[in-house]
Amino acid sequence: MSVASPSDSRKVTIASLLEKKLQRQRITSLTAYDYASARLVDEAGIDFILVGDSLANVMLGYDNTVPVTMEDMLHHTRAVRRGVARALLVTDMPFASYHISDEEALRNASRLLKEGGAEAVKIEGGVKRADLIRKVVEAEIPVMGHIGLTPQSVHIMGGYKVQGKTLAAAEQLMKDAAALDRAGAFAIVLEGIPREVAAMITAEVGVPTIGIGAGPDCDGQILVYHDLLGLSFNPAAKFVRHYAEVGSVISQALAAYRKDVEAGEYPGDSESYHLSQETSSELEAIRERKRLMDRKSS
Ligand code: KIV
Repeated sequence: MSVASPSDSRKVTIASLLEKKLQRQRITSLTAYDYASARLVDEAGIDFILVGDSLANVMLGYDNTVPVTMEDMLHHTRAVRRGVARALLVTDMPFASYHISDEEALRNASRLLKEGGAEAVKIEGGVKRADLIRKVVEAEIPVMGHIGLTPQSVHIMGGYKVQGKTLAAAEQLMKDAAALDRAGAFAIVLEGIPREVAAMITAEVGVPTIGIGAGPDCDGQILVYHDLLGLSFNPAAKFVRHYAEVGSVISQALAAYRKDVEAGEYPGDSESYHLSQETSSELEAIRERKRLMDRKSS
């Protein structure tokens, strides 16, 4: 099914992502949530796959990411794991899985690697998460940071709003990024921030920045799989580019299937299994004998 094969078939690692930043080669990334999407994304040569807690919205029908549980993340990560051979696999730590205590955060991060098969975890938050991120990295668990519009803070932010627009907010984002870099995060997602701020952060931190709604000057880009394919039910954000309208292709196919079944046009003879000529004749002969016997006895 794959149309695009990666130019480089070597396994993507944290070191190879850093090398891409150093070589000024852009890093590609997408979310995936199940075996099929993971295979397609992996076979397209995308560098890393995020099992994002955006699965709340696109897979589970929630309004925001807050209700997602560790069990949800483990379930989807295991399915994605089975579909990925080359890309680096990162999984989101869901809301409240790292907020209560460092011990609980370490246990939950370990589970995503041990039971889910992720190779790294993503944690939202800047300066305030730096100490925790250092501890998780010290426990040999690679961490990707995520600052700017952090969807798990939807209630604190009062909705999904572009962050870092004032001087003070832009400076805070620079501090957040620097703190994550020092804490040992191997990459930082920059979400929903002005292009200019993302460019400054990208120039200053040593690790790759991955933008989503943060302009073209980041070291890489990430999008939600369903957004890219035109499979989402919500109006798209400004930064989303639909590379296909898969939702309307699916709707047309479903309507055509329904019409064919209702009209008796599906399945056709060529879509049916058949008895061999010999078995068919034997069966007919048995039925004929039975009819004769029934007639005699009545
Ligand atoms: O959950 C998610 O999909 C994310 C984005 C960065 C894509 O965190």
